[in-house]
Amino acid sequence: MSFNFLLTETTDGIAKVTINREKAMNALNPDVLKEIRDCFTALSADASVRVVIVTGAGEKAFVAGADIAAMSSMTPQDALEFGKLGHSAMDAVDQCSKPVIAAVNGFCLGGGMELALSCDFMYVSEKAKLGLPEVNLGLFPGWGGTQRLARLVGKGRAKEMIFSAKIISAQEAFEAGIANKICKPEDLLNDVQAVAVEITKKAPVAVSLAKKTLHQGFDMPLAQGLDLEKNTFAKCFETQDLKEGLAAFLEKRAANFKGN
Ligand code: HXC
Repeated sequence: MSFNFLLTETTDGIAKVTINREKAMNALNPDVLKEIRDCFTALSADASVRVVIVTGAGEKAFVAGADIAAMSSMTPQDALEFGKLGHSAMDAVDQCSKPVIAAVNGFCLGGGMELALSCDFMYVSEKAKLGLPEVNLGLFPGWGGTQRLARLVGKGRAKEMIFSAKIISAQEAFEAGIANKICKPEDLLNDVQAVAVEITKKAPVAVSLAKKTLHQGFDMPLAQGLDLEKNTFAKCFETQDLKEGLAAFLEKRAANFKGN
């Protein structure tokens, strides 16, 4: 697939998606959102891809939010459609069957933070600034931010960030559990690549089922989530990779997983 606003490349099972609108701080307009939705739908179905990395073009921004110029002429009906389109893009990232890691290389604001929150986890550059500053503009986070941030850091911290439009540093994001790791700017992509490589060595179906189980179970009562885990866990025993993983351990060799 070719895109106008995304750069994509896949090497050794790791797909890198770069939001490429550097002059507008990689802001998300309807065209970019459609491309993110279509790209992640395709990556999810692509058996050659095991992990996806998302980042922003240039040195200043991951994504500075929804495109403010595009929103300036929207009617409430247009805004409803824009909101739905944004959700479809974020959901395509969230529900991608492969782990998705955000490499947050700079400003990560509004819809940009909502994109990063839709990824499975994020590493951030020391220079990153993160926040949901929508109330400065008369709107509030409309692409999952009110829900995903609250689930990640708790209601109190999410409310403070959203109501005050507070912009936080990489260190604050790490301390709040939003970012898994703080990286030197020049090391960010290598650090993300390193964890992606580790994941590519694991059994793909098991990783994918683990993601699905974690996601589906997260909002269930514990007993229901544990039941889900029991049933999903057994599905691993339908795979060749399970046989390979167990045999490799017993034969004291590295496993060669095929993804089936
Ligand atoms: C459109 C944007 C943009 C955005 C930056 N630009 N952010 N264009 N939408 N979200 C453009 C600027 O207009 C400018 O274009 C160029 O990018 C460089 O930005 P500057 O402001 O000149 O850079 P700087 O002074 O370094 O400030 C960087 C910044 C600032 C702090 C990131 O640009 C900023 O505050 N941006 C808006 C952040 C924000 O409020 N995001 C939330 C949006 S609402 P020109 O042509 O002048 O060079 C949202 C809602 C999501 O995300 C949910 C919707 C349903």
